[in-house]
Amino acid sequence: MYKILQHFHSGWAYLTLTMGVLFFVLVGYYAINKKARNNFISKISFFTTLTFHLQLVIGVVLYFVSPYAKWTENTMKDETNRLYAMEHPLMMFAAVVLITIANSKLKKSEVVKMTPAILGLLALACVVSRIPWDAWLS
Ligand code: HEM
Ligand code: HEM
Repeated sequence: MYKILQHFHSGWAYLTLTMGVLFFVLVGYYAINKKARNNFISKISFFTTLTFHLQLVIGVVLYFVSPYAKWTENTMKDETNRLYAMEHPLMMFAAVVLITIANSKLKKSEVVKMTPAILGLLALACVVSRIPWDAWLS
């Protein structure tokens, strides 16, 4: 069970990052060119939200089964343990909240505004800052 979730969360992270970048670039492009919201950009936004939400749900389950996310009296002193037990979950949660707000803001205006693009960029920054890069890419 743990191995399956770990692999899923690790693989799904590629899609999460890709959708995050696509969301920022495309919504930013629409906003700069003051384009009207169409079916395409709405779908991109919908699937970005879906991707992030699913990653969050799997992450929360992982949090309770992963040996890396265990809390001990040394958690705060140990960089790796602190990353998995606190920094990664908190920052990723913030990213999911930001993307969810970006999606709902996008849905509310007829012409695409800059706000969802900026929220998307902030979400990306949260994700990029607290991915366990070494463990992920090795
Ligand atoms: C703890 C679990 C979850 C919570 C608390 C949650 C919460 C939310 C909230 C508050 C929204 C915003 C709704 C809006 O903008 O009006 C939303 C949107 C969305 N969620 Fe989740 N969600 C969860 C899990 C999931 C899962 C597992 C999926 C799919 C695999 C998912 C897919 C989506 C999608 C696609 C949207 C965008 C809907 C739209 O734009 O019409 N969510 N979710
Ligand atoms: C946008 C959301 C997220 C992204 C992009 C993401 C990405 C990742 C990546 C790339 C890894 C490393 C996987 C590997 O070692 O191959 C990881 C591990 C982990 N993540 Fe997330 N994550 C997200 C959300 C969350 C959340 C919300 C939680 C918990 C509440 C969470 C808990 C964990 C845990 C516990 C691990 C360590 C798993 C293990 O190897 O035992 N993640 N995550």
